[in-house]
Amino acid sequence: MARGRAFFLALSNSERLRRLATDSAPARAMSRRFIAGEKRAEAVSLVQRLNLEGLLGTLDYLGENTTSDTEAQDSATEVLDLLGELEAADADAGVSIKLTQLGLDLSPALAAENAQGVVHRAAEIGRFVRIDMESSEYVQPTLDLFEELWQSHKNVGVVIQSYLYRSTEDAARLVEMGASVRLVKGAYDEASHVAYPDKAGTDASFLRLAEQLFSDRAQTLGVYPAIATHDVALVDWVREHTRRFRISPDQFEYQMLYGIRRRLQRKLVAEGYRVRVYIPYGEHWYPYLMRRLAERPANLVFVLHNLLRP
Ligand code: FDA
Repeated sequence: MARGRAFFLALSNSERLRRLATDSAPARAMSRRFIAGEKRAEAVSLVQRLNLEGLLGTLDYLGENTTSDTEAQDSATEVLDLLGELEAADADAGVSIKLTQLGLDLSPALAAENAQGVVHRAAEIGRFVRIDMESSEYVQPTLDLFEELWQSHKNVGVVIQSYLYRSTEDAARLVEMGASVRLVKGAYDEASHVAYPDKAGTDASFLRLAEQLFSDRAQTLGVYPAIATHDVALVDWVREHTRRFRISPDQFEYQMLYGIRRRLQRKLVAEGYRVRVYIPYGEHWYPYLMRRLAERPANLVFVLHNLLRP
């Protein structure tokens, strides 16, 4: 793993830095490059603006690894309230959730109950729920809970990370279920016995997994791939591959993070593709921001510029 990436991922776990950053007004201001704001209303109004430009949204109430039942339940309540506001605003957006935010570290049953509530409410108002994938120790419990939810609800999808060696088998299983799968490279600090340590291995795996998700079998079974990357080479590959195999733009979507590759997002919309923007909001933005710095340490220049501004 590149040293810069490992450095920022290690910082993402520092409680001291988290407190320093979240108490600092300039740090909060600079987090705005990637985060809608600390309030739900800011995220809803941002998605409405993006909708006007033809972009779709998935909103993420920031937070992970909650340490009490109350905290986990409060997070679930926030997501339920968010769904209510998306409906009231008639926003074209769903939600992304993390199971550790809903209590997975405390008890799988608690996370399951909270996730059930969210997926059920989203189904009532015709919204989609994506379960984000966290670090590798959570992959199996996340897939297990996803399968459980899938039995009763089809408005839910999961994520596959191309840096993990196990993903080929996981994707094969999800294809047989006809699931909606977001494909990403993977954002956590993983050991080389579970994940490709280099970009080349991760990118090659991304293409193999995309082929799996776009295969005839997957298409027949109703798999809906969400290709989540800012990597232009991969975006172009998907465009060519889907054209060649006559997979129409409504059979998949591109997804990108808020604040990254804005021009490419709009260009794809103009070409007739579905593009969904992942929009995080809330007070717990520190680990999310550190992961964005890990992906592109050059973002630090932007951060420092904001911190040093008089
Ligand atoms: P890569 O990191 O190779 O970057 C390609 C190019 O994109 C860079 O050269 C740069 O130009 C641009 N770029 C990438 N990251 C940037 C940044 N932070 N700032 C500025 N430019 C940047 N991960 C995970 O483990 N679980 C999950 O559930 C999700 N969910 C998710 C949803 C969506 C919609 C997206 C787009 C991504 C995720 N991810 C994720 C994150 C993902 O795993 C990965 O870390 C990032 O997308 C960065 O990888 P890229 O595919 O963009 O390629």
